[in-house]
Amino acid sequence: MKNILVTGGLGFIGSHTVVELLENGYDVIIVDNLSNSSIDIVDRIKKITKKDFKFYKDDVCNLNALNNIFSSNKIDAVIHFAGYKAVGESVKKPIMYYENNLISTLHLCEVMKKYNCNKLIFSSSATVYGNPEKLPLTEDCKVGGTTNPYGTSKLMIEKILKDITISDGEFTPIVLRYFNPIGAHKSGLIGEKPNGIPNNLMPYIVRVATGELKELNIFGDDYETSDGTGVRDYIHVVDLAKGHIKALEKAFNTTGIHYYNLGTGHGYSVLDMVKAFERVNNVKIPYKIVGRRSGDIASCYADCTLAMKELGWHAELGLDDMMKDSYNFIIFQNKK
Ligand code: UFG
Repeated sequence: MKNILVTGGLGFIGSHTVVELLENGYDVIIVDNLSNSSIDIVDRIKKITKKDFKFYKDDVCNLNALNNIFSSNKIDAVIHFAGYKAVGESVKKPIMYYENNLISTLHLCEVMKKYNCNKLIFSSSATVYGNPEKLPLTEDCKVGGTTNPYGTSKLMIEKILKDITISDGEFTPIVLRYFNPIGAHKSGLIGEKPNGIPNNLMPYIVRVATGELKELNIFGDDYETSDGTGVRDYIHVVDLAKGHIKALEKAFNTTGIHYYNLGTGHGYSVLDMVKAFERVNNVKIPYKIVGRRSGDIASCYADCTLAMKELGWHAELGLDDMMKDSYNFIIFQNKK
């Protein structure tokens, strides 16, 4: 039985990945400081999986806390989700973003090295490609040109991991570049619950659907896309979580650094998303077209051939599942 440390394991993608890990027979240790998650996710994961795991309420930036976790447990691999992720906030608070995202990763790598733990799955993002040089994006596309500190912190971490790999032949990071994760676990127990007014499209749409927000602002309809609105590659969070299990299997059988796009390969516009949500959930989403959001790109979608070839992974759930599960989660939350 392999012991996997999951940083940020109570967050949106982290919690779904922990469910998949437990269901695939891994032992799990979560470290999460609850800065953007809540403690009741622990019980919800246990309810879904009927399995137990260890939980440390600690900050990954805290070297002493990490040392304590590694000295008390034999850890075979780490999946590193912990980090700040709000694009707009990162523009306003760059120091906080760089400090948190970089120091946590540096400390984690330092302690992993000390305890001879070499397998790391890192939560990166399609944002590292900046304005795509071509579409669909393959892993060898140029990276850089990020437009905000959050994205730049992901790019910097990718570079740090590469440098550690060059210095240490045993170190094996698998860098997963996520496209746009949405949806939620079928149970309705875990999902995405941003604090305050959501920045991302799907959490905003669901709050319009429940009546908590009046209407959706669509940021621009003059892009060079089929209907003028922005195109993204939305992926169900459960598919994404399963990608981590495949990446972990790969990490145990390889060395060196590897990069994989995790998306579906399909691009949908904002209007496609609104229409699909209305159709699947039989609810109206009022919207108005407003100006472009600064830093946004027209289109971004993945070529996922490499993940299929080397990890044996591909997304299985479609847009209808994503729409249904996103809404189901919020309805379930609001009932309680
Ligand atoms: N959009 C709207 N109205 C909204 C919110 C979003 O029209 O209220 C549009 C955006 O302009 C964009 C699309 O919906 O065209 C998707 O926007 P999101 O904010 O949901 O997602 P982004 O693609 O901008 O960013 C996401 C994550 C980032 C990550 C990036 C990777 O938020 O963390 O994908 O490509 F870096």
